[in-house]
Amino acid sequence: FRIVVLASGSGSLLQALLDAERAGRLPASIVAVGSDRVDAHALARARDAGITTFALPLTRGADRATWDAGLTALVAAHEPDLVVSAGFMKLLGETFLARFGGRAINSHPALLPSFPGMHAVRDALAHGVKVTGATVFTIDAGVDTGEILGQVAVPVADDDTVETLHERIKVAERELLVRTVTTLAGS
Ligand code: GRF
Repeated sequence: FRIVVLASGSGSLLQALLDAERAGRLPASIVAVGSDRVDAHALARARDAGITTFALPLTRGADRATWDAGLTALVAAHEPDLVVSAGFMKLLGETFLARFGGRAINSHPALLPSFPGMHAVRDALAHGVKVTGATVFTIDAGVDTGEILGQVAVPVADDDTVETLHERIKVAERELLVRTVTTLAGS
């Protein structure tokens, strides 16, 4: 069961998948890691694990559809059974969804449909919720609107900052993502 992971940031979610695979806890193999950022630390984590990486920056003023088609081709070259967006900060467009729709999942640090978008942890904290969490869902054409596959609740502490809350969410999110990918790989 071949997985391509897309990440834009530090890659701690990617690292959880890499660690699970190495520990024999993931019935799948991560065959490539891609990013929209050439300097994403997630790519360094992939390289350290001996995994092929690719990057396709979306340069300012570039045509979005061209970028989407280019990314789709880079992903397709690795013939994935599943694409996992793990902290990938770009919306995937119609070319990508035509090719991988239904076989691409995303992890989001909030209990969707609450707090979609780029600032989920900040928005949850600002709203004063006492419980938030993480959601893994199937990517569709909307923003964080796909079919929910799994969720995990995470308590909010009175003295939480965005950083402390996000770190607590990430601990639960990593387990949820490994569990969800394991289920999909086995189905
Ligand atoms: C995760 O919480 C993910 O849900 C959100 O950004 C974070 C990525 O963290 N989109 P990392 O890059 O995997 O450390």
